[in-house]
Amino acid sequence: MSFKIVEQAPARLNRTELAVPGSNYRFIEKAAESPADVIFLDLEDAVAPDDKPQARKNIIKALNEIDFGNKTMSVRINGLDTHYMYRDVIDIIEQGGERLDLFMIPKAGTAADIYAVDMLVTQAEDAVGRKKKLGFEMIIETALGMSNVDAIAAASPRNESLHFGVADYAASTRARTTVIGGPNPMYGVLTDATESGERDYHWGDMWHYAIARMVVAARANGLRPVDGPFGDIQDPDGYKAQAFRAAVLGCEGKWAIHPSQIELGQAVFSPSEAEVEKAKRILDAMEQAQKEGKGAVTLDGRLIDIASIKQAENLVNKAKQIAGS
Ligand code: GLV
Ligand code: MG
Repeated sequence: MSFKIVEQAPARLNRTELAVPGSNYRFIEKAAESPADVIFLDLEDAVAPDDKPQARKNIIKALNEIDFGNKTMSVRINGLDTHYMYRDVIDIIEQGGERLDLFMIPKAGTAADIYAVDMLVTQAEDAVGRKKKLGFEMIIETALGMSNVDAIAAASPRNESLHFGVADYAASTRARTTVIGGPNPMYGVLTDATESGERDYHWGDMWHYAIARMVVAARANGLRPVDGPFGDIQDPDGYKAQAFRAAVLGCEGKWAIHPSQIELGQAVFSPSEAEVEKAKRILDAMEQAQKEGKGAVTLDGRLIDIASIKQAENLVNKAKQIAGS
């Protein structure tokens, strides 16, 4: 272990994060009844410029009046390059009560962006005497943000999570796609020909680097990495495949941009009984090994060692967190 101890953000379940446009009060009411762990009420890109003032009012009313149970509540404020953002922060802190947990900062580009929002939020919280400090979740969705992802992740003690915003990221990097997430048939490799001349074409995951990079920055700073949207709401298998590959890389969850995606995400990001069972067997085997003074043993024909304890503990702890929620 390094001598540096990485402080972990508050442990919250973040399996699915449901995006809800602040301009639609009925959607906000329905979201409260959904099984999503986190809801973000949007003031940014799902809300047209003329609707922003009404969306703020809806969100303030919802935070004061709707029972969101034990969900984590977030509001996506507008970007720092707009004239909406300061009013989003001020109105919501001044009039939204204590229910809100997080602000989501879109298109985070530099550490100074986070510092600036922190300053504004701190002033507004102090002025109203807010008891609970708001946390931050940052969307990494521009080339600038990705190139500064480590500094962004470390920019404020309020930081809790990083999110991969695939749609804006594609636009920012000028990737050749017009869809929101998912694979692209042009991104693949053609194998060399076999002796009989056959060649295979394997699709690759064009988002692999971006997600893996974000996961490292998040985990190095004790934050939750979360995968962003998948736009084809008619393709549950596609959603699940995207979610599984994000989970395998270390993400704790994925956005749901339609209610039909919530249960898919909740299932993918909950370790299965078989995985938890296997993790418990690893812990038992390692406990026995340590009693016998061994650092490594075999289980089901595979070598396991002290690192296996940590992997298994991650799974078992996640299962306990879900069971206790
Ligand atoms: C999310 O905001 C995205 O751009 O994908
Ligand atoms: Mg975006």
